[in-house]
Amino acid sequence: MKRQRLYINIDHVATVRQARRGDEPDPVAAALLCEEAGADGITAHLREDRRHIQDVDIERLATEVTTVLNVEMACTDEMLAIAMRLRPHQVTLVPERREEITTEGGLDVSHDVKRLRDGLARLNDAGIRTSLFIAPHRDAIERSRELGAAAVELHTGQYAHCAGDSETLNALQDASRRGASLELSVHAGHGLTVANVAPVAAIPEIEELNIGHSVVSRAIFVGLVEAVRELRRVMDEARASS
Ligand code: PXP
Repeated sequence: MKRQRLYINIDHVATVRQARRGDEPDPVAAALLCEEAGADGITAHLREDRRHIQDVDIERLATEVTTVLNVEMACTDEMLAIAMRLRPHQVTLVPERREEITTEGGLDVSHDVKRLRDGLARLNDAGIRTSLFIAPHRDAIERSRELGAAAVELHTGQYAHCAGDSETLNALQDASRRGASLELSVHAGHGLTVANVAPVAAIPEIEELNIGHSVVSRAIFVGLVEAVRELRRVMDEARASS
């Protein structure tokens, strides 16, 4: 089975820095360490409220990342203008609500269709790889295809919150097959950890995982390099044994 890409989301390194509004820890330095440890790409979410990643971080990541940069953003004029200027490898469009603690659900791809279609077209035309963060449902996948996305990222939050629940895993497996059959690249992420990632890593159609909070949390105890390596090992073992 093809090796699965691991993209590390470094948002929460910036969360710690923003607790004091200072310079440390630097999310760009963290990104470079993750790359050294084997990350295939770096993910960062520039939120409208700038609660963690700041504009200057995205600017620096766009030039200093040596693998590839995946920027998560809402589909707004402001964010699209930033993407067009910085031209990251990939943009993942996500829903955003100011009052949420984290990205709580997938995009509602049946709502605001024109905005999403136009945003995807602008990004695609600029040569930026496009992905939509959606719930693992067939209708959302089919609509994502119609809207013009190159990839879908399946929200694994429900799976992560219901550890061991076969229904949420089945939904991810089914959605992954449907995505691949429509020639969409299939990614996944949210709430994944060393303890729960193996069954998701074993889904053959899933090409890429985006993992953040658990890596930064684990890094407090074992360091960032080891935290990334642990994940990589579990992902590789899961794919080798399935
Ligand atoms: N993928 C997307 C689209 C996200 O919005 C997030 C959270 O920012 C993640 C992956 C990573 O989730 P976590 O931090 O729970 O690993």
